[in-house]
Amino acid sequence: MQTYALDQYVADLRHIVSEETDDGAITKRIKPLAEKFTADRSWFKDLYREVDEEQGFGLHLLFEEDNHDLAVFVIAWAPGKGLAAHNHKTWAVVSGIEGQEHETNYARQDDGSKPGFADLTMTAEETLFPGKAVCCMPEDIHSVWNNGEEVAVSLHTYGRHLNHTGRSVFDVASKTESPCVVKVKD
Ligand SMILES: [Fe+2]
Repeated sequence: MQTYALDQYVADLRHIVSEETDDGAITKRIKPLAEKFTADRSWFKDLYREVDEEQGFGLHLLFEEDNHDLAVFVIAWAPGKGLAAHNHKTWAVVSGIEGQEHETNYARQDDGSKPGFADLTMTAEETLFPGKAVCCMPEDIHSVWNNGEEVAVSLHTYGRHLNHTGRSVFDVASKTESPCVVKVKD
């Protein structure tokens, strides 16, 4: 018997966003719940480890509201694959399930006023392992890379479905910013 099912997690998410408006307060309350939900993996399916070969990772949508708010994904990353520097334009809580994901954080040096241009500098990096969760604010910029030998899998909870936030992906070397849209599996 599952102790903390998806329905209960979603009910808790809805309750928290009904009580809080500050992104930091929202993610602080969700973080321990994401860790709790990923601690009992009786809900986990083998297909959640599947990745899109072309993309290098697979997004498996567990839940979103009809208006695309409160999106919960399992994301699988193939070994040696990841996503270049990107923002989310919504709050995020990521909790490790299997394998390891290396996260590099960046700070933006320009004011964002020049379309398509972004000057980023690296600020910190860490590797996320199962049992630990991290939070991101809407304008935070990071890259993610599976630096392990196996497929890495994590639970991602966002304030809004990622393909509905108008977020960006960045090329740090060429200092460019472009729209970021990802393929999502059913
Ligand atoms: Fe991200």
